[in-house]
Amino acid sequence: MPVPKHIFAPPFNIIRSSHVTLGITDLGRSRAFYEGALGLQVEDATGDALYLRGLEERQHHSLVLHRSAVPSVRHLGFKVASEEDLDRAAHHFKTLGTEHAFVEAPFQGRTLRALDPCGLPLELYFRMEQRPSLLRQYGRYRGVQPQRLDHFNVFAPEVQRSVDFYASLGFRLTEYAEEDGADGRIAAAWMHRKGNVHDIAFTNGPGPRLHHLAYWAPTALNIIHLCDVMASTGYLANMERGPGRHGISNAFFLYVRCPDGHRTEIYTSDYQTMDTDHEPLRWSLRDPRRQTLWGQPAPRSWFEEGSLFDGVALRDALFKADVLVAS
Ligand SMILES: [Fe+2]
Repeated sequence: MPVPKHIFAPPFNIIRSSHVTLGITDLGRSRAFYEGALGLQVEDATGDALYLRGLEERQHHSLVLHRSAVPSVRHLGFKVASEEDLDRAAHHFKTLGTEHAFVEAPFQGRTLRALDPCGLPLELYFRMEQRPSLLRQYGRYRGVQPQRLDHFNVFAPEVQRSVDFYASLGFRLTEYAEEDGADGRIAAAWMHRKGNVHDIAFTNGPGPRLHHLAYWAPTALNIIHLCDVMASTGYLANMERGPGRHGISNAFFLYVRCPDGHRTEIYTSDYQTMDTDHEPLRWSLRDPRRQTLWGQPAPRSWFEEGSLFDGVALRDALFKADVLVAS
């Protein structure tokens, strides 16, 4: 694959992944899962939406659960560095010819929604209402003690095209998996703006679909504690994969599914990537250590199931990646 060259002066400045809005069929049932089991803080509840955040976050929300007839994902949120960056972003999407519009979004300032060239719905903003961080409010710690939203992972039908587009916006490739051989195609890529392994990752497959959102937990012990909590509060079947450690990103992980099937990764212990001479790490697609350095192999559901984006047509992947799947 062509590894993209890093662009240090992108057309507008995204600083990090910020929030995601999920379509949820039963808000009460999902509140019990995200607040009661995982330990996210409910910051606001309206008639048709719940706004949640992690303990460290000062922004009003990093997860919005929106009442919906069917499970879906509305958009992936990214924070930009200034109001001017929103105008630069609108100009850039206009130049690209992709759908975009400024919209009203509760608890946020000017908000730009746009489709990326591969059909991924994005929401960009600079200002969001602020709340005091709960980082030192240990009496509020519950569940896995989620600190902050860390990243998104999406199924992408054209991974190389997604990588090239996000590289053009200044996202840096940290790790990638590709086929062996001179003409090996890229099957997965991890890209960041904020200085750790990723803000967004792309996995080859029918898409666009959300594979997972991820919250950062303080330690691996918090993740093991969450396994005990879920196993004893009726959520055993919602634990899909893990705990274990990925080779890619070095993360200690657990994947859980909410009652509507949306997947959340609980994630900790990756590494810094902000050095300007940091080079991407290549993994062979046939190397099982990339998915699982240790732990049980990923089940078939983990490879095949994901959440659809509202109103976005599903496309087949350009090719079928030859990955190892547990039966
Ligand atoms: Fe992840």
